[in-house]
Amino acid sequence: MSETDPIRLDGLKALVTGGASGIGHATACLLAARGADVAVLDLDPSGARAPLLGIKADVSDDASVREGVAAAVDRLGGRLDILVNNAGIGAVGTVEDNDDAQWHRVLDVNVLGMARTSRAALPRLRRSAHAAIVNTCSIAATAGLPQRALYSASKGAVLSLTLAMAADHVREGIRVNCVNPGTADTPWVGRLLAAADDPEAERAALDARQPMGRLVTAGEVAAAIAYLASPAAASVTGTALAVDGGMQGLRPRPAGPAGPAGPAGPAGPAGLTDPADPVGR
Ligand SMILES: NC(=O)c1ccc[n+]([C@@H]2O[C@H](COP(=O)([O-])OP(=O)(O)OC[C@H]3O[C@@H](n4cnc5c(N)ncnc54)[C@H](O)[C@@H]3O)[C@@H](O)[C@H]2O)c1
Repeated sequence: MSETDPIRLDGLKALVTGGASGIGHATACLLAARGADVAVLDLDPSGARAPLLGIKADVSDDASVREGVAAAVDRLGGRLDILVNNAGIGAVGTVEDNDDAQWHRVLDVNVLGMARTSRAALPRLRRSAHAAIVNTCSIAATAGLPQRALYSASKGAVLSLTLAMAADHVREGIRVNCVNPGTADTPWVGRLLAAADDPEAERAALDARQPMGRLVTAGEVAAAIAYLASPAAASVTGTALAVDGGMQGLRPRPAGPAGPAGPAGPAGPAGLTDPADPVGR
């Protein structure tokens, strides 16, 4: 590993779940570009091409996870330094809309999936001098989003799990952090938009919900994950790093036709629009 550039990951071995698409794929590619050897566990690893080592595994199946982690460690030369728990699925609806089977399925993948992969990886991580776990959480853990009751519950659990794991493993030299992306431009969001009545209007509403006026990119989330996974973040643990275009922390005035205050000034009509709810849901 480079002594001069702590962002470099030369010589480190990394495993990314859900690394064949979207945020996970961007992360796996960035870790590899920074010098790590990277294995990907995914239901469909076909998107993880060389130099990534694609391995088929289902994070909702404990045996599959154990086999997948063992195969990854084997192909990485018997070591593991970085685990990125990223595989996740979505759910749409209020608390009335999802049945028990959907609740079990989403919690099984999004929460238990991280527990399964972490416990399979921990024995190897304990042997690393640069051990780090990064969980992909979400703005849904920290802000109330409409129509996301089940998904938000799963990501709230991921946030708490991140803190508890950080406390449990800090004395073992294993750092645990999470990233909280806002809505990110990935195949997942593409599928959601394609299913909307008016995809263009829905896309505009999602863009407007973020103070920067655009979706987050997968590469921007990957950069945050790569930082938290790197020796540059050696003193960072138990942190949730928002990558959300300001969606969680900022309360800007909505932009009016004549600028931020609008033609009627700060108390005018532009100030009455709810920036967090551009589509009136
Ligand atoms: N896209 C967003 O707006 C957004 C925002 C915040 C958080 N996130 C989180 O980011 C993560 C990745 O989302 P994305 O948008 O890149 O999604 P994506 O659908 O593009 O990629 C998800 C990947 O996970 C894999 N996967 C799904 N279930 C799996 C399972 N049971 N076992 C193994 N692999 C499985 C898929 O095959 C896919 O390759 C998720 O945890 C998601 O909750 C996404």
